[in-house]
Amino acid sequence: MNHPLIQHKLTIIREKECGTKVFREVVSEIAMLMAYEVTRDMPLEDIEIETPLVKTTQKTLSGKKVAIIPILRAGLGMVDGFLAMLPAAKVGHIGMYRDHETLEPVEYFVKLPTDIQERQLFIVDPMLATGGSAIAAIEALEKRGASPSSMKFICLVAAPEGMEALHAAYPDVDIYAASLDERLDENSYILPGLGDAGDRLFGTK
Ligand code: PRP
Ligand code: URA
Repeated sequence: MNHPLIQHKLTIIREKECGTKVFREVVSEIAMLMAYEVTRDMPLEDIEIETPLVKTTQKTLSGKKVAIIPILRAGLGMVDGFLAMLPAAKVGHIGMYRDHETLEPVEYFVKLPTDIQERQLFIVDPMLATGGSAIAAIEALEKRGASPSSMKFICLVAAPEGMEALHAAYPDVDIYAASLDERLDENSYILPGLGDAGDRLFGTK
């Protein structure tokens, strides 16, 4: 996403000297800007309303209700920004961490709105590295009745490897990234990246 504000803010959080407070605030701001971009294709319908002066036909959102699905932990950092644009959205949580030895995603928590199969789903996670966590999260949603065609995956930084893996596994899921970075390192961290997003958001190591 080439919006200058998104690019500028991404540079701020990439800096290793950026502390937890600013990191958290700016992740939230980028998420809000991305929410604006990824909702561009939301359908509208005409409704009749009355202004203080006349009756008129105007636009209102139609189509599916939405749910925001953060992949824990780091996805939590993007929820407030999305809710700023979509204040009535429901929020479902998928707990997933990457095992540091095997790099395989491990699911530890799933709590979703009961009607996810009827909603447009915005899955949020700042990082798309190997794609393992995103693919496992989508599998978890699919297992509970959601269709990939109703899902969009939104991240801040993506590696080409993760983009390819996610697209190959789920071609119907639209992927949005604020930046497509260069590659993964030998530990599957994104280069240049921003380090461990969860640790930087929550001040852990
Ligand atoms: C990070 C990140 C993604 C995942 C990306 O989470 O937030 O969920 O890694 O890597 P992948 O594409 O190779 O699966 P992490 O496992 O560090 O957990 P955390 O959010 O709790 O820190
Ligand atoms: N998860 C992160 O938080 N950062 C990376 O660079 C890769 C996976």
